[in-house]
Amino acid sequence: LYRIQQISLRSRSLFSELTFPLFRPLLSAADTDSRYVFLGVALLNQPVALGIAEIDQEDKTQGDVLSICVAMQYRRNGLGTRLLKLMEETMADRGVHLGRFTYMSGLPQTPAVEAMLRRSGWLEPRYRMMICDVEFDGISKAPWMQCRSLPPEFATFPWSDLTNAERQDILDRQAKQHWYPEELTPFRNEHLIEPAMSLGLRYRDEAVGWCIAHRLSMETVRYASLFVRRDLQAMGRAVQLLAKSIYLCVGTPIYKGRFDVAMDNPAMLRFVKTRMAPYLASIRYVLRSHKRLQALQELETRSA
Ligand SMILES: CC(C)(COP(=O)(O)OP(=O)(O)OC[C@H]1O[C@@H](n2cnc3c(N)ncnc32)[C@H](O)[C@@H]1OP(=O)(O)O)[C@@H](O)C(=O)NCCC(=O)NCCS
Repeated sequence: LYRIQQISLRSRSLFSELTFPLFRPLLSAADTDSRYVFLGVALLNQPVALGIAEIDQEDKTQGDVLSICVAMQYRRNGLGTRLLKLMEETMADRGVHLGRFTYMSGLPQTPAVEAMLRRSGWLEPRYRMMICDVEFDGISKAPWMQCRSLPPEFATFPWSDLTNAERQDILDRQAKQHWYPEELTPFRNEHLIEPAMSLGLRYRDEAVGWCIAHRLSMETVRYASLFVRRDLQAMGRAVQLLAKSIYLCVGTPIYKGRFDVAMDNPAMLRFVKTRMAPYLASIRYVLRSHKRLQALQELETRSA
């Protein structure tokens, strides 16, 4: 009854409700673009499910299932599992040996995703990142939010006041000493920076840290980067910077925030769990599962 097939550009827009807004722009990829796999499921010509995968361009033996979605009324019939299997086979046919599936804990669909992955032989997922949602009014009552004064050698400043010379100095020191992890650069997606909440930190007149907030919507920001130079980190300066930034928004239309913590940042993970957790709206995790795909398994069986 169901027709499952690769869908060409011409008919992809009919399936656009069957993926997240984040991935909708991908539906206009050219048919010749071999990076993507689009598998659509139709019942009597009506779209009922869609799977999207992307082949890693740096290592074409790896690929991500980006999205798999079954229309509500067709769920729990084995369709998601069947579509995932076909996605795996299509990726394997294109030379992908290792499939990846990234998802978020704590969402209504998480149990279904996890059951589908387990049933389909994907490995136990690994934690990749902690995602925290916060309402500023609530968190501003936390005890650690109250200590925002800094010793005299330190000064915070609106990030928009960063001078060109300071910007160049930050980049020069990065090129020479790699003094911050590149993913915490303050200079990514600068057009999203919310000036009212983004702060820099100077220590003896040198820019040594930042708390950069990106505007997600009228009421929400995402803390894209919170960083303080390593030798000054243990003094809690990063938390003070965050506290100052949050205070700037209390009582304004921006009342919600989101930030993430990498799993290789044990100090911040500990701080979130012990001191912030009671004041957060939610803590969720980004998880990733892997699977060796058919083509490789066949190779292994043949060579065994
Ligand atoms: C995830 C999704 C694709 C599963 O599709 P589906 O067609 O319902 O999946 P299946 O019928 O093949 O079921 C797969 C497994 O999930 C289980 N399952 C499905 N819905 C479930 C739910 N709401 N709660 C718990 N388990 C659920 C099934 O019981 C089955 O496990 P089992 O074999 O151990 O019984 C579907 O729920 C969906 O489209 N969700 C919204 C989009 C989404 O979040 N996609 C994932 C991120 S990209």
